[in-house]
Amino acid sequence: MSFGLFIRRRTTAAMASLLQNGLSSSSTSKILPCVTSSISFTEDPTTHAAVPQILDAATEENLQKAAAYLKQGRLVAFPTETVYGLGGSAMANSDAIPKIFATKGRPSDNPLIVHIASRSQLDALIDPEYKDTIPTCYTALMDKFWPGPLTLLFPTIPGQQVSEKVTCGLRTVGVRMPSHPVARALLAISNMPLAAPSANTSGRPSTTQASHVASDLAGKEEPACILDGGECTVGVESTVVTALPEGKSVNNKEVLRVLRLGGVSPEDLQTCIDDAGLSYEVEVKMEAYAPSAINPVNAGNGHGVKDDFIPSTPGMKYKHYSPDAKVLLLKVTNQTSALPLNSLLSAYQNKKVGILHLDESNLPKAVRKYTSKVASISMGREGRYDEQATRLFAGLRSLDENKVDVILVEVVKEEGLGRTVMERLRKSAGADNAKIEVQLPVSS
Ligand code: TXA
Ligand code: MG
Repeated sequence: MSFGLFIRRRTTAAMASLLQNGLSSSSTSKILPCVTSSISFTEDPTTHAAVPQILDAATEENLQKAAAYLKQGRLVAFPTETVYGLGGSAMANSDAIPKIFATKGRPSDNPLIVHIASRSQLDALIDPEYKDTIPTCYTALMDKFWPGPLTLLFPTIPGQQVSEKVTCGLRTVGVRMPSHPVARALLAISNMPLAAPSANTSGRPSTTQASHVASDLAGKEEPACILDGGECTVGVESTVVTALPEGKSVNNKEVLRVLRLGGVSPEDLQTCIDDAGLSYEVEVKMEAYAPSAINPVNAGNGHGVKDDFIPSTPGMKYKHYSPDAKVLLLKVTNQTSALPLNSLLSAYQNKKVGILHLDESNLPKAVRKYTSKVASISMGREGRYDEQATRLFAGLRSLDENKVDVILVEVVKEEGLGRTVMERLRKSAGADNAKIEVQLPVSS
């Protein structure tokens, strides 16, 4: 089976595949196609707001329909360049936020990211008391990476500026401006900031195609519709960062902390900051941090200071990205100490084996020597972390659809976006996330 079969750039292909997969007609009928290339933007000279120009009439009609649903307090699933989001109004008086948590089955302490169409919408989200203390690096980061896969934390007043259910009681709000034309057009037409987590059921691999959303949320009352803008190009979620003051410095520099790895690599963040002549050290610290008690932004952000192990990003502690099949992470090596492939496979006799491999890999051929019940999908070329990121979640989902019992995933190098790919893979493997070194039979 080739991965190409699963790439559905065109809406017609997505619909055909949905019907083939036997999804209910109610979930497929919610899919509203959008022709991404028909959407462009100009900037309003006075307000600096993004103004969409939509050439395809059906696309415009579908976006208007979706915006109307949002205004009624309903949810809309929409494509972003990272993953599909499940969006609803983020405003203080929003009825939509509990529906997002209920539809996804999301733990109630996991805050949502707020999406905006243009920087003109940002001011309304930031606590005015802290407007003058926004870290200097934020401007450089927004200039370079917005619109795009970067989320920044800002101080906010929950209940006044955004719904307190968006921030789950924290006094910070994660904001990003997506670059996908359908997402930006929806944000501009509805003229409201949208809270949107990834549109998967909580715990499942994220959704990078409209059909994934239809499949995960089939039979649910929400969303009212799913805008189909094709396959997400980045394929992994945004990088979440904060430089809000914590009274901490590294190497006498201020700290830009990566709370969740994502579509912008730590290396690219550091380059952006260095190019802007700023003195910040990018630190990847996702597991924990104890914010300073003295700084009001942190003291009031709900993380507390009592525990000595405090998740920096509430979502990081939950099960994530898990397909139905067991996931094992393999490093192919010719070290004699490594486990022979046939020993590994002996535990899966008469089971169906899925493989998520690199283009150049000999692993699929070697596995087929021992069993014929194999489905393999390539994540892309070695070193092409962009390709691997794009195909990762769709690959896991496709192998699940093929009813494999175990998915053997080839590990990639932990550099650039490869770090994000590996972080997602480790999470999808859950407790079995240790790398297993395997050696292939000599003739492979
Ligand atoms: O690319 C993305 O970010 C996608 C698309 C739809 O935009 N959204 C997304 O949302 O991945 P979600 O909810 O699946 O992940 C948001 C992550 C969670 O780990 C959450 O805990 C963290 O961001 N987060 C949100 N607000 C936060 C805050 N104020 N402080 C710390 N972490 C926050
Ligand atoms: Mg998610």
